[in-house]
Amino acid sequence: MGRQVLVTGGTGYIGSHTVVELQAVGFEVIIIDDLSNSTADVVDNIERISGIRPVFEEFNLLDLGRLETFFEKYRGIEAIIHFAAFKSVGESVEKPLYYYRNNLVSLMNILDCMSKYNVPNLVFSSSCTVYGQPDQLPVTENTPKKDAESPYGNTKAISEEILRDVVKVARELNVIALRYFNPIGAHPSALIGELPRGIPNNLVPFITQTAAGIRQQLSVFGDDYNTTDGSCVRDYINVVDLAKAHVIAINRLITSINIDRYEFFNIGTGKGASVLEVVKTFEEATGVKLNYKIVDRRPGDVEKIYADTTIANTVLGWKAQTSLYDTLLSAWNWEKRIRNID
Ligand code: UD1
Repeated sequence: MGRQVLVTGGTGYIGSHTVVELQAVGFEVIIIDDLSNSTADVVDNIERISGIRPVFEEFNLLDLGRLETFFEKYRGIEAIIHFAAFKSVGESVEKPLYYYRNNLVSLMNILDCMSKYNVPNLVFSSSCTVYGQPDQLPVTENTPKKDAESPYGNTKAISEEILRDVVKVARELNVIALRYFNPIGAHPSALIGELPRGIPNNLVPFITQTAAGIRQQLSVFGDDYNTTDGSCVRDYINVVDLAKAHVIAINRLITSINIDRYEFFNIGTGKGASVLEVVKTFEEATGVKLNYKIVDRRPGDVEKIYADTTIANTVLGWKAQTSLYDTLLSAWNWEKRIRNID
């Protein structure tokens, strides 16, 4: 039997890819997910990829009683990766309390149970959103944080503060927060990937749905930014590479003795790509011409952000491997499979 890791949000986009990578190196994975933004067949597809079916428990983490019952049942859990959270920026502006309650109370419930049931290790899904629009690029882990642009972003910033404060007093607790830049792409098998509900907010799902004919046209939000081609710049990180960073973080927590008890790392490629570069690279990689037009800027967008990954490279020993070209191709292969396109 492998070492047990609990993955909350394990049927979600990044969660499912991480489950596969954990299983590939022998961890025994238990998923908790309420399926609020995913479907149960993801568990089947994880099994198809890995040949191993993860344990799956369906419930919402706000239910502390249910979570305690869970920890009574699974006594061997050594580490937790906490993905489960809401992530839509626009929705969080409409429903701030819904976001604060879900994202913060679930984290607090997890922390309560870690203390009560002696689970020492936590990897937390954070985001480059904590940096806002940085004054200097690339952003290092020590770049000053800015006020969050949205309640969603604020839940990530507050979560990091909760973790920092709890680690000070919870002597057994070790935490690694991973600050993701823009995760994109899908597993090379095309069996798991990103499946947004309704109209996608994020760039790459909108691109692949446009290419698949589900959306008529991609809107490029602004071409008058202070960037090489005028469109916004982001650091797009392959989701499988990102998943592997979690496995490294878990191993570091389980095996290292001399680590800071609260660490945080930038997880990106270190390279910025503009929206128009992403469009062009998608067209080159797939041979599909994209129907797009330039429209006004999207309120709240930062102009440019990309990571300094030196600390992740040297301390974690992790580095992004997959090119933007291959990653966009994987996103397209996933979209084609779920839409039955040849
Ligand atoms: C957004 C959130 C970020 C969150 C992440 C989660 C904002 C300001 N930031 O990141 O906090 O962690 O999603 O997934 O919302 N674009 C287009 N056309 C589109 C969609 C996007 O041109 O139809 C552009 C955007 O202007 C941006 C880039 O593509 O420049 C990436 O956008 P998106 O995928 O939404 O990610 P972020 O805005 O970086």
